[in-house]
Amino acid sequence: VDFLLFRQQLVEWYQTIKRDLPWRKDQDPYKVWVSEIMLQQTQVDTVIPYFNHFINRFPTPAVLAEADEDEVLKAWEGLGYYSRARNLHAAVKEVTASYGGKVPTDKEQLQSLKGIGPYTLGAIMSIAYGEPEPAVDGNVMRVLSRVFIIEHDIKKAATRKVFEALVRQLIDPIRPSDFNQGLMELGALICKPAQPKCEKCPLKSVCLAHKQGIETTLPIKTKA
Ligand code: ADE
Repeated sequence: VDFLLFRQQLVEWYQTIKRDLPWRKDQDPYKVWVSEIMLQQTQVDTVIPYFNHFINRFPTPAVLAEADEDEVLKAWEGLGYYSRARNLHAAVKEVTASYGGKVPTDKEQLQSLKGIGPYTLGAIMSIAYGEPEPAVDGNVMRVLSRVFIIEHDIKKAATRKVFEALVRQLIDPIRPSDFNQGLMELGALICKPAQPKCEKCPLKSVCLAHKQGIETTLPIKTKA
């Protein structure tokens, strides 16, 4: 696969089709953080009104840190996975106490905050700070497993590192945010688990699985 072509086709496509979502209005790391936490287990359409309300009520880490947990949980009501809200609340208290209310730009500092795993870390580093860091989630693994025919079991914890190593080589060093969000968007809109819309895919010409007609056999996922 031609890495330069992959990168160029993906970023160009994303820039053409990208949706005008509320967390894409600026690169505020706090908004990127909140949105990525909400988006981890919840669909974009569901997240939009929650995100808007949450940011209106808690516009900065300092405001969120000062709020009562009850009120934070109330703003999260209906989104589910409430530990996400509790972790976020604990993490902004740490940001307020240790970093003067500013979301750290340092990877190690970010990584040590509650609820920030490798995916969220990469999303914040690339989308808010423009750093060429991988942000690998299930959608991204599906897209890459198909384009490159990667047959590692995506249920295995060690597999994410295989994809992260690939993204480190593939990522557009000057547009890491568009590259990562392009991969997410492609996984969500085109390269779906069943009935992928390959005819509309910007990576059709480079996709090894499509070339062999085996796209829906990937990724490999052993039963839980
Ligand atoms: N899913 C996860 N992160 C996303 C983002 N930044 N935009 C749209 N969908 C997403």
